[in-house]
Amino acid sequence: MKVISQPIDFCKKTTTAPRIIVPTMGALHKGHLELIHRARALAGKKGEVIVTIFVNPTQFNNPSDLEKYPRTLEKDLELCREQGADVVFTPAPDAIYYSDHSVNIIEGSLSNRLCGATRPGHFEGVCTVVLKLFNITRADIGVFGKKDFQQLAIIRRMVRDLNLAVQIEGVETVREPSGLALSSRNTRLTKAQHADAPRIRRALLAARKLCSNGELTVEKLISSAREIIDRSDESAQIDYLELLDSETLQPITKISRPALLATAVFYGNVRLIDNIELN
Ligand code: PAF
Repeated sequence: MKVISQPIDFCKKTTTAPRIIVPTMGALHKGHLELIHRARALAGKKGEVIVTIFVNPTQFNNPSDLEKYPRTLEKDLELCREQGADVVFTPAPDAIYYSDHSVNIIEGSLSNRLCGATRPGHFEGVCTVVLKLFNITRADIGVFGKKDFQQLAIIRRMVRDLNLAVQIEGVETVREPSGLALSSRNTRLTKAQHADAPRIRRALLAARKLCSNGELTVEKLISSAREIIDRSDESAQIDYLELLDSETLQPITKISRPALLATAVFYGNVRLIDNIELN
């Protein structure tokens, strides 16, 4: 496995076998390993799997979140090796951004709600860095997790609208046995918060059950989920809890098409996200 830290060190592709990128910010957990595993399966023996590890400063709207973001490079490299990655790209911020960089990618519709509304500038940072990583690595396929449903939808939109020659592959969320979605941020929860946090998944599942039993009014579905989160013993605070059309990510009042119930919940200053699709 090669470890590269400068964009210039990427060689041109010499075969037609696919080059697959798994963009991450490190602190790898089983969810990331699932992404690398999928990339390996798509690449086959002849293709190349590139994992990028870069804590992208431009997507953090909160400086303390950026500072506290876990950094575990040695362990991450070991995990990438075990999962069969061919290349790991670990640039420093100044290898990615010129000090006077002035071009950014703005997605102007899907980013307006959910994380885009509560974290201004977040998706501009994500789109800009993901496009740069696609260009630097010249990848054919990009693999992303469905836990960040909005991110995945926005990246697919960017690929469509900018005619990028990259195919996007979405991978199911990996969960702890309790149902809590794996996240690098889980390591920052106290023991008691960690024990309480699976209520996020329970809340989403309860709304989905209500929906499959025939309740189609968005307000009622949202309140059923809200009630479960609000009963938290650890003062969980809802940042957002929204039910949207899963394609346009715009609000709806009744379920008549595939929909997405998505939430972000704070435990102290740790913000966890999760979502569920309602069909
Ligand atoms: O999902 C993430 O970890 C990041 O948003 C990504 C896609 C690696 C861009 O920095």
